[in-house]
Amino acid sequence: MVQAQAATEAAIPLMAPYKMGRSLRIPNGQAPISSTDKQITPDDSHMVYSKPRRLRTDEIPQIVDDFRVAARNAIEAGFDGVEIHGAHGYLIDQFMKDSANDRTDQYGGSLENRCRFAVEVIDAVVAEVGADRVGVRLSPYIDFMDCFDSDPEALGSYMVQRLNKYPGLLYCHMVEPRMAIVEGRRKITHGLLPFRKQFNGTFIASGGYDREEGNKVVDDGYADLVAYGRLFLGNPDLPRRFELNAPLNKYDRSTFYTHNSVVGYTDYPFLEEKKEDSATRPHSHTNQS
Ligand SMILES: Cc1cc2nc3c(=O)[nH]c(=O)nc-3n(C[C@H](O)[C@H](O)[C@H](O)COP(=O)(O)O)c2cc1C
Repeated sequence: MVQAQAATEAAIPLMAPYKMGRSLRIPNGQAPISSTDKQITPDDSHMVYSKPRRLRTDEIPQIVDDFRVAARNAIEAGFDGVEIHGAHGYLIDQFMKDSANDRTDQYGGSLENRCRFAVEVIDAVVAEVGADRVGVRLSPYIDFMDCFDSDPEALGSYMVQRLNKYPGLLYCHMVEPRMAIVEGRRKITHGLLPFRKQFNGTFIASGGYDREEGNKVVDDGYADLVAYGRLFLGNPDLPRRFELNAPLNKYDRSTFYTHNSVVGYTDYPFLEEKKEDSATRPHSHTNQS
């Protein structure tokens, strides 16, 4: 668990939100770039995403180089490593998944072609900072932002086998499929086993874990490490709480995706602070579900 914290604190994710971004947030109101020019279907939140601009083939080397430069900058800024974000509908994921990749050049069509952009980014970043400082995050089963694959097992297998070709790669981090509801309780499906078995290096699982389930999968050899999102957000001292089996702060969903970088992000109390008067805190964090 402590190793997981160290990795989280020291490795900065390199990601390119593009297609899911809105032009408002991009300099000069330009269209977000993507593997495709198909617009994302508005979701339940009624968010309307800008129509993306399909990257031309000749622009791709520059984008690959942007990842290389970002990795170099991160190391020079003092990070121990970088995590290449090939998950959750961001740019690399858009190229990999056949729902979002309708290209006819060497970056579209076959599985190998769809993964070419990801592989080129990993090659460039590994050459720049060394495999031992590069982790890769993948989510073959996730279908956010109209970004899903018709054969996630083949996609995940292809990618972990590619990752095996980088000796000493820091880790492969995979996101569990969406949780199933079984007898009214959320249940992790543990669908990453084939990838865990095929990958030769350190394997991190994430998505829906609590302390008990995390310990169990590490004991079982299903994962080497478990990464926590929401529990870490709500508990800045999560490894210590896990060690002590102490109660956890409840995270507050209503402050997850806001522009306030303090409320719901850096104001959850540490264990010692819990004794202080909570009335002085900006909000009460009582909404875990
Ligand atoms: C407030 C918040 C912001 C997040 N932002 C991102 C993000 O920018 N990119 C991403 O891929 N995942 C993001 N996630 C998802 C987490 O990385 C993680 O996959 C997810 O929370 C599932 O893990 P958990 O069940 O341990 O929370 C975010 C989650 C939360 C709660």
